[in-house]
Amino acid sequence: MREGTPSRCMAAMWLQLHFAALLSVLGAHEAKAQRLVLPLTEVTHGGEAATLLGRRLKLDSHPNALGNYDNVQYHVQIEIGADCPDQPRQEFKVVPDTGSSDLWIPAVNCTHCKSRTQKFDITKSCQAEQIGNRITFRYGDGTVANGGSFYDTVRVGDLEVEGQLLIQVDHMESDTHMKSDGILGLAHHYASDRSLRGETFVSTLFREHPHLPAQFSFYLTGRGSNDAKSQLVFGDPDLASHSKETRFRYGKGQYMSTTDLWLTSVWSVGWSDTGVEVTFPDRGTLGAPALIDSGSSLLVIEPGVYDRLISELRWRFTNCHSLPEQQILSCDCPPANDLSRIPQLVINIIDEHDKQFSLCMSPDEFILESVDPITGRTSCVPSIQRGSASQPVPLIFGMTFMRAFYTTFDFKHGRIGFARSNLSPLPGLAQCSADAQPLLRRSIWVLSLLVAVASVCFACYVFFVPGYPPAKARPPSQVPAAA
Ligand SMILES: *[C@@H]1O[C@H](CO)[C@@H](O)[C@H](O)[C@H]1NC(C)=O
Repeated sequence: MREGTPSRCMAAMWLQLHFAALLSVLGAHEAKAQRLVLPLTEVTHGGEAATLLGRRLKLDSHPNALGNYDNVQYHVQIEIGADCPDQPRQEFKVVPDTGSSDLWIPAVNCTHCKSRTQKFDITKSCQAEQIGNRITFRYGDGTVANGGSFYDTVRVGDLEVEGQLLIQVDHMESDTHMKSDGILGLAHHYASDRSLRGETFVSTLFREHPHLPAQFSFYLTGRGSNDAKSQLVFGDPDLASHSKETRFRYGKGQYMSTTDLWLTSVWSVGWSDTGVEVTFPDRGTLGAPALIDSGSSLLVIEPGVYDRLISELRWRFTNCHSLPEQQILSCDCPPANDLSRIPQLVINIIDEHDKQFSLCMSPDEFILESVDPITGRTSCVPSIQRGSASQPVPLIFGMTFMRAFYTTFDFKHGRIGFARSNLSPLPGLAQCSADAQPLLRRSIWVLSLLVAVASVCFACYVFFVPGYPPAKARPPSQVPAAA
């Protein structure tokens, strides 16, 4: 029994906290991501698999449409149960959550589960097999949910797995703010089953489908982008249709080998051209672990780092105030909603060869616009949340981040890859740096180089040009002595 596995509880806690906090601000108001929808750049490549492996030309790709609640929660449709006579499969909307391990849904006999939710009736699933143990989830806000685990067949889109471990929650001690019925944990492992056969949904999926490329990818769109639909893709990612780049850039996956979470390595976080950059020197070349979390709405940053970053943003807006419950900042939007004076968020990732690459987010991507339904006033909300010192990792990059980058979770190699979303206002392979005014610095550098070269030339001239300097007359005082 895995009751009390800390990382699992922590992950669930973040999910819960974020929904609770954010739905009240962003959901209640008319929140929308300010996103410039630019014409798609030309992408002519036929996807990574096709270009890298000449043999396999057809993508083995299984897309699932994601529903979107106010940009703070996405959900995917799943079916539970095998093909039984007179017993249709039971359908649920669940949050695909890379930050937790369990697949859970509410049970038909659940006390205090919200009323308008699908409930699972195990007596109507002919092949369900109860395990007989109890699992307790303890959320950070004090909520306790528990239920029993069982094995059953699960279908997500056109992929089916048998013998999947699930939990039917039959008791909640307080209300949940979740809009979905349950959660589909997409963590690569349980903290406890690293050496066992692996019981998370992704472990089961890739074990039972050995020919399916062992990765899944998220393409998240905002509510404003009507034509483009959010997707969770199992198997080959479809870069050509979702990204401005033709390949993924992968962060270092070393943290994943010792945890059950999807982590990557971050060298620094800062604001472009400002000199404001937070590094993690005590972490060495491994950098700080960042959880890429489809179950969090915002970027959740530990307090020390958050405070250094947000002060630089604060003075660029007017009338900022903290919303204590949500731990986010809310400011007046600049005149005409002109965000051009707001710097880009610069996230420097450490790659597999210990080199760095920058992931840039434009203000249009990380500033959410929230309209007060009563006063009609618009406020600008940086989608960065002050986390807690006890959060599982210092950096949690949620949906706001994942809307800027098509993100692939590579189960086979244990690493996460990023490619600029085709809906991002920034171009493919966009570069950014937190260095203060790099132009000025570069000019000074070029100038000093010129001065140095000039001095060398002058020195050469002095030494090698004959007749220069003109031979000096000996001092008159020495002449009589020699004579
Ligand atoms: C709900 O039903 C399951 C059997 O399907 C049982 O094991 C569990 O104890 C029940 N829970 C409650 C709270 O009655």
